[in-house]
Amino acid sequence: MSKQKLSPDVLCKVEKSGNRFNAWDTDGVKRTSEISTTTRKRAFENDSYLGRFPTSTGRTYWRLVPKDAVDTEPLNTASNEEISSVDVPTEHAEVLNFIHSSYSLKPKALMMNELKWKYLVRSAVRGKNIMMTGPAGCGKTMAAKCCVNALERPDFYFNLGATQDPRATLIGNTHFSQENGTYFSESAFVKAIQTPNAVILLDELSRAHPDAWNILMTVLDYGQRYLRLDEQDGQKTIKVAQGVTFVATANIGNEYTSTRVMDKALMDRFTIVEMDVLTEDDENSLLTYMFPNVDTKVISNVAKIATLTRTESNSETARITSGISTRTTVELCGLLFDGFSLEESSEVTIYPQYDSTGGVDSERTFVKQIVQKFCDDGSSDELFNEDEMAEAEEESY
Ligand SMILES: Nc1ncnc2c1ncn2[C@@H]1O[C@H](COP(=O)(O)OP(=O)(O)OP(=O)(O)O)[C@@H](O)[C@H]1O
Ligand SMILES: [Mg+2]
Repeated sequence: MSKQKLSPDVLCKVEKSGNRFNAWDTDGVKRTSEISTTTRKRAFENDSYLGRFPTSTGRTYWRLVPKDAVDTEPLNTASNEEISSVDVPTEHAEVLNFIHSSYSLKPKALMMNELKWKYLVRSAVRGKNIMMTGPAGCGKTMAAKCCVNALERPDFYFNLGATQDPRATLIGNTHFSQENGTYFSESAFVKAIQTPNAVILLDELSRAHPDAWNILMTVLDYGQRYLRLDEQDGQKTIKVAQGVTFVATANIGNEYTSTRVMDKALMDRFTIVEMDVLTEDDENSLLTYMFPNVDTKVISNVAKIATLTRTESNSETARITSGISTRTTVELCGLLFDGFSLEESSEVTIYPQYDSTGGVDSERTFVKQIVQKFCDDGSSDELFNEDEMAEAEEESY
C-alpha cells in the first residue's frame, strides 16, 4: 500500500512538560501557542505528529499526521531535546542578555509593548510571583501563557476560576477503601510545586474561592514557601521546590462586580504586571495581522468602534460601563472573515454585552449608535437621526 502523500508546511512533535503538551517543529521552534490544547493532547496520546496545512482561503489549520505517513524522519529530535532542556541562564551577564533579547520570543499574535513584555520575562526569570491584571479580554491569559512558553521550563496550568473545590484542586482528596482505610491522594498542584524550576500558571485567581487564597498564602510568601496538607495526619507540609515561579491572572477594577475583591495580603505577595488595553493603532495592527483577508477599511472601523467605546467608558460622564474588549473585536473579525457584515457581526458579538433596559437611554442603544455610524452600506434603515449620532460621537470623546 502506498503511503498517503501529505504536505504540511510545518511538522511538529508533541512532548509532555509538567501537565502541558508542547509542540516543537523541525527547527526546534516551540509552536505550542498556535495549536489548541486538545489537538496537542490528542497528538501526544496517539503518538502522532502534528502538521500545519494551508486552506484555500490562505489560513492554516493543524491536524494529526501519523508517524508512518511521512516518508522521511522529519524531526531533528536531538536539537529539540537540546532546546527543551536549556535552562534559563544564571550568570548575571547572561540573564541580562536573555531578558533584553527576549522580545523576539514574544509571538507576533500577542500585542504587548516591549517594556511590559520584558518586565514580565524578567519577573519570571527572577522567580517573582507575577500577577497579570487588566480588564476582561485584554490578553492576560494569553500573555501569561506566551511567557510560560518562552521559558524552557516545566509548566503547569490551573484555572482557579473554574474550580468548585479549592481544597481538592490545590491539596488533594481523602479517600476510603476497605483494605487501606482512609488514605490521601495528592493533587496535581502538589506535584507541580515540587518540580524544580516549574512555572505555574494560576489563571483567574481573582475569581477563586477565598479558601484557595488562604491555601496559597504560605505558598506564595517568599519567606515561607510551603503548602500545608492539613487534611493529613501530623499537619505535613510540602516545600515549594527551588526556582518555582507563579504567574497569576486577575480582573481587577470596580467594573468587575462578579470578581471577588482580592485580599490585600494576597495581592502584596505579587509583582503586578498590568496589561494595557490596546490603542486604536495597536488594535488595528493586531486585527490586520490576524485577518489579512478582511477588508482593511472595515478592520479599521472595528478598531475605531472599540476605541470609541473604551474612551466613553472611561469618561466622567460615561454612558456605558465597559468598552469592547480585544477578545470581542477578534471574534467579530472572525465573523467578517466568514462573510458576515459589520452590522450583523456587531449584532451577535457586541450588542448582547450591553444592557438594553431603558430603551433609547440604554447602554445598548448607545453602543448601537456608535456602530451604526460605521455601517454605511446604504442598505440599513437609519436607526437614529444624524443629530443623535453626531451627539453620540462628540460626547464619547
Ligand atoms: N493584547 C492582545 N494581543 C493579542 N490578542 C489579544 C490581546 N488581548 C486579547 N486578545 C485576543 O482575545 C482573546 C482573549 O484573551 P485572553 O483570554 O488572554 O484575555 P484575558 O485578559 O485573560 O480575559 P479574562 O479576563 O476574561 O480572563 C485572545 O485569545 C486573543 O485572541
Ligand atoms: Mg483570562
